[in-house]
Amino acid sequence: ASYQPLEGRHVLVTAGPTWESIDPVRYIANRSSGKQGFAIAAAAAALGAEVTLVAGPVYLKTPAGVKRVDVESAEEMASAVKRALPCDVAVMVAAVSDWRPKEYRDEKIKKRGSAPPALMLTENPDILTNLAAGKDRPALVVGFAAETERVIDHAKQKRKRKAADWIIANDVSGDVMGGDENTVHIITTDGVENLKEMPKAEVAMAIMTRVADTFQAKAAE
Ligand code: C5P
Repeated sequence: ASYQPLEGRHVLVTAGPTWESIDPVRYIANRSSGKQGFAIAAAAAALGAEVTLVAGPVYLKTPAGVKRVDVESAEEMASAVKRALPCDVAVMVAAVSDWRPKEYRDEKIKKRGSAPPALMLTENPDILTNLAAGKDRPALVVGFAAETERVIDHAKQKRKRKAADWIIANDVSGDVMGGDENTVHIITTDGVENLKEMPKAEVAMAIMTRVADTFQAKAAE
């Protein structure tokens, strides 16, 4: 009954951190609550989209009307994203770990011995870059850029480097992580839109409304 401008569209969202296992009890990860990504999935569903949410390990309830796929590592997230294709819009909000331990040890690494063990890392796939360059490229690819300084500049560079259509620049110099408020800038080919600080749910609705407007403008062309 409400306004459903994204009806008939498939929106894919990644959210949360990834965990990269060292051994059965230890991992490395990025700091991410998943709140902004889950809010985006909720907003997309509220606007009528079919939504697939690929979620790293987070403690959040699945938003109404959203199909959720839980993953742990970046490699698992990359394959879940591939399986979820095709989609019209991809919003990659996950804080994917850039690296994972080069080798996984099946047994818990023991503390005995003198020196702590060295951790050798290897690069994870860049899910956003691969999606934007792939043959199933969605019509609209949106990335996030968490930055602590020169937020807009860095995000503009990231948009080009990753071949994303939009980058949502996220100023994380304050206490955004785990919090309920966010300050973002929407960077498109046309320029920069600055949104004021607001709750993550409102940030999500602003972004997804902008997505819906873009599709409606395209349909009207
Ligand atoms: O390079 P950086 O990690 O800052 O880029 C952030 C953007 O790229 C986010 O949209 C994030 O979800 C995405 N990303 C990804 N796969 C990675 C690293 C980042 O999809 N391995």
